Amino acid sequence: MVRRARFFIQCKEMLELSGCDTAGFDTLCVFQDILNDKYPLTKPDEEIPGDIAEKITDIIKKRCEGYPLQYVLGEWDFWKYTFRVGEGVLIPRPDTETLIENILDICRKNKLQSPKILDLCSGSGCIAITLDKEIPQSEVWAVEKYDSAFEYLEENIRLNNSEVRAVKADVLSPETARKFKDFDIIASNPPYLTAEEMQDLQKEVRAEPETALYGGDDGLDFYREITPVWRNSLKTGGYISYEIGMNQHNSVAEILKSNNFININFTEDTGGIIRIVTAEKQEENKNG
Ligand SMILES: C[S@@+](CC[C@H](N)C(=O)[O-])C[C@H]1O[C@@H](n2cnc3c(N)ncnc32)[C@H](O)[C@@H]1O
Repeated sequence: MVRRARFFIQCKEMLELSGCDTAGFDTLCVFQDILNDKYPLTKPDEEIPGDIAEKITDIIKKRCEGYPLQYVLGEWDFWKYTFRVGEGVLIPRPDTETLIENILDICRKNKLQSPKILDLCSGSGCIAITLDKEIPQSEVWAVEKYDSAFEYLEENIRLNNSEVRAVKADVLSPETARKFKDFDIIASNPPYLTAEEMQDLQKEVRAEPETALYGGDDGLDFYREITPVWRNSLKTGGYISYEIGMNQHNSVAEILKSNNFININFTEDTGGIIRIVTAEKQEENKNG
C-alpha cells in the first residue's frame, strides 16, 4: 500500500526523468482514469492497494517509453465529445477543431440547415461525428479505408449516438467517388506529412499509424488526388475544406484553382499557423 500523494510524486518523477514535459498532467490523467476519481489529489493520504499501484506503474512505464497518453487512456476529447482511440487510429488533434469551426461558419453564412456533408479520411470520426452532432439536420457520410481505423469510427458513431453513415473505402478510387453525389460540403484531414517530416517524428507520433500520417514526398499526394476525383461529388457552389500541414497553403490553393475551385480562403489555427484551406466549386459553364 502506498499513499496517493507520495505515489503521485514518484510517478511524476519517473516521467520527468524520461524527458516527458507534461509529467504532472499525464500522471494526473492516469490517476483519474485508474482510480476512477476526477480529483484524486484531494485525498492525498488515501492508500492505493498494491495491485492498483502496480497497474499505474505499468502504465507510467509505457508512457515513459513514449507510448501516447491518449492510447493509454483509450479515449480523448475533441470539441465537446469523447472518442475512443488506440493503436491503429490517429488521435484527434485540437488543430482539427479549426476545421469544424470553419464548416459551421460556412453553414451559417450560407444558411445551410440540412447540409449533406462528406468527411474523407475519417479515422476516429472526430470530424464527421462532431459535425453530425452540431448540425442536427445534416446528413453526414464518412469514408475510411483501413480496418483498424474503421473499427474505431464505427465504435465512436455508436458511443456518441451519431447518425453518421460510415463507408469503408479508398478515397483515391474514382469508382468510390462516383457513388457519392450532390454534397454541399466535403471535409478532409488527409495524411499530409512529407518524407522529411516522417524521419523526424516525436516518439509519441511514431506510435500512430503511418497510413494516417504520410502524404507522399512533399505531403501533397492526397490533395492532388482527392481534388479532381471528388470534385464531381459536390454540388455547384458546394465547398471543400481541407486541413493542411504547415506551409502547404499556397500549393493546396494552386491544386484547388487548377481544378476550377474559386473563393479560396485560408484560416489559421489557434497557434497562428494556416491550417485550413476552403474553396467553392465553380459553376461548370465557367470552367476554363
Ligand atoms: C490524418 S488522419 C485523419 C483522421 C481524422 N479525420 C482526424 O482528423 O483525426 C488520415 C486518415 O486517412 C485514412 N486514410 C489514409 N489513406 C486513405 C485512403 N486511401 N482512403 C481512405 N482513407 C485513408 C487514414 O487511415 C487516417 O485515418
